[in-house]
Amino acid sequence: MKVHLKTDVICTLFLVIILCLLIYLHFDVLSPRERQEKYTFGPLTNIRISSTEAVKTIALEDDISVTQNEHRCEEKDQVVDKSLPSASATTVTPPSSFNFHQYLLDKDKRHFQLLINQPRKCRKASNDPFLLIAIKSVLEDFERREVVRKTWGKEGQINGLEVRCIFLLAVPKNQTALPLWRDLAHYESETYGDILLWEFLDTFFNLTLKEIHFLKWAHEFCSNVKFIFKGDADVFVNTENIINFLNSYNANEDLFVGDIILQAQPIRSKTSKYYIPEIIYGQGLYPSYAGGGGFLMSAFTMKKLFKACNEVELFPIDDVFLGMCLLRTGLKPVAHEGFRTFGIIKPSAAPHLQTYNPCFYKELMVVHSLKVAEIWLMWKLLHDPTLTCTQKEVIERPFRWKQKS
Ligand SMILES: *[C@@H]1O[C@H](CO)[C@@H](O)[C@H](O)[C@H]1NC(C)=O
Ligand SMILES: *[C@@H]1O[C@H](CO)[C@@H](O)[C@H](O)[C@H]1NC(C)=O
Repeated sequence: MKVHLKTDVICTLFLVIILCLLIYLHFDVLSPRERQEKYTFGPLTNIRISSTEAVKTIALEDDISVTQNEHRCEEKDQVVDKSLPSASATTVTPPSSFNFHQYLLDKDKRHFQLLINQPRKCRKASNDPFLLIAIKSVLEDFERREVVRKTWGKEGQINGLEVRCIFLLAVPKNQTALPLWRDLAHYESETYGDILLWEFLDTFFNLTLKEIHFLKWAHEFCSNVKFIFKGDADVFVNTENIINFLNSYNANEDLFVGDIILQAQPIRSKTSKYYIPEIIYGQGLYPSYAGGGGFLMSAFTMKKLFKACNEVELFPIDDVFLGMCLLRTGLKPVAHEGFRTFGIIKPSAAPHLQTYNPCFYKELMVVHSLKVAEIWLMWKLLHDPTLTCTQKEVIERPFRWKQKS
């Protein structure tokens, strides 16, 4: 009897030791840095860290940390190149030779008139809007606006929360291509009530003007909104996921979430379309900024950014400019895995991924660079009542990030 008991005790002890060893190993294989990236997505600051539960990502975390490290170490020039296409939304293409001298001369001209306004955009319903979707567009891109209006930018209620949508436009650069642009803007505004149009030229390097004018407008006409999503027209946005994610946040606190690009270097090669000479920006690294595609912020942060941006000199790349404003406010932007600015690319580049499988989009918030038909189709597929997704379908094969070709 005594011997029996002893064996049992030894056995139990042995098992406990093994268990402890296993737990220890599990946590130790991750380096501290990986652990931080895996569990907090960036340095802890006064701004709330987005929780992994809020939007479950599709267990691609390991691959994501690999890519993020790549951004920092290798091919920084290319990274900036890939991460700045917010402006390249099909129709605005950067000029090959940009007159930086003229830019410096014009830099103080930063107030332009609002030609078409929607002053009641955020006042129409009895409830304050929960989410304002603000989309950068160019007047020529009528088709994109149409598809966004029908899909992820649809105004109305989601889970009882008011969603509003607005398009940010300026004067088209090539007016011979669209001689009736004034009429188009007028009738679109009349029909849909979702057009803001400012009196500067709608060019790639003027997108910063769009940024500050939008913040000014939001501050003046939409300060009662809770949250703002600002993005491009060529993205797919899972509006329901965004609403669910935001539901756990307080609009009276700071929140700035997106696909955050850390420590990008200014491109000094004159052939690049993102070339920035040292007279424009002399420092070695850009501040953290949200890559194109889109980002989310609270109304509280919008008001802070509006003030901060007024004190920052214009910078030709709008994403980076906003990063400079953020730096001025002292806020640290939060990266969220649901934002894929340049991660998920065209199905041809990642055929095994089934990027047309709606289940793949179900867990994401923003996906970049889609064609008009793809946006429409994905929305329809995602809202098909017969759609059933199991985790297994989503992670059929391990995901590998590929370069945009
Ligand atoms: C403007 O558009 C017209 C008509 O589409 C085209 O022929 C012309 O080359 C364009 N001009 C510029 C500067 O792009
Ligand atoms: C921005 O817009 C202003 C006003 O229309 C124009 O004078 C200027 O040339 C534009 N700047 C760029 C870089 O396109």
